[in-house]
Amino acid sequence: MRNILAIALILIASTATGNEVDTRRILPLTEHQRDHVLTEMRALLSGTQNILDALSEENMTVVAREARSLGVGMAHKGEDHLKAVLPKEFMQMGMSVHKAFDQIAADAESMQDPKHTLRQMSKAMQTCNACHASYQIRLKEHSTGQETQSSHHQHQHQH
Ligand code: HEC
Repeated sequence: MRNILAIALILIASTATGNEVDTRRILPLTEHQRDHVLTEMRALLSGTQNILDALSEENMTVVAREARSLGVGMAHKGEDHLKAVLPKEFMQMGMSVHKAFDQIAADAESMQDPKHTLRQMSKAMQTCNACHASYQIRLKEHSTGQETQSSHHQHQHQH
């Protein structure tokens, strides 16, 4: 609880400075890589919502199933090509979230304690916040003409 408050205060404090420049570390990605990361992000958000929904009904079987779908198995779906371009700390933070969801799934099955799951969810989501506070995605300048948009893009196709 104290950690959540600390994060909330940091967020409020940094907003209150009125600094309009996004100072988060930049991840230069291609259109395709950006799409891959953001698609996974949206899956994390909707999976989280599904978990909370099942949790509100204390349906721990569904909690476990939804949490497992966000586990380490999710990360293995084609993340190899991103490993090369994303910073190590970024990959580690991402992996720790996937591991947390596997733990949530395992505990939901073995302990069947919604309150315990709720605490784990809150803790896991601190990592969502920490990463979002640290990184932003920017398209690599030459990436737009690369894959699908070369026909109506004014720059020459280049690598
Ligand atoms: C390892 C880093 C990292 C972690 C962990 C992480 N995210 Fe993200 N997320 C990002 C980055 C980077 C962006 C893009 C932010 C930007 O460019 O401004 C993003 C964007 C998003 C978006 C916007 C997607 C879109 O289509 O624009 C959602 C939703 C999201 N994250 C949800 C989550 C949730 C929920 C969690 C935790 C369960 C989470 N993220 C954990 C790095 C992370």
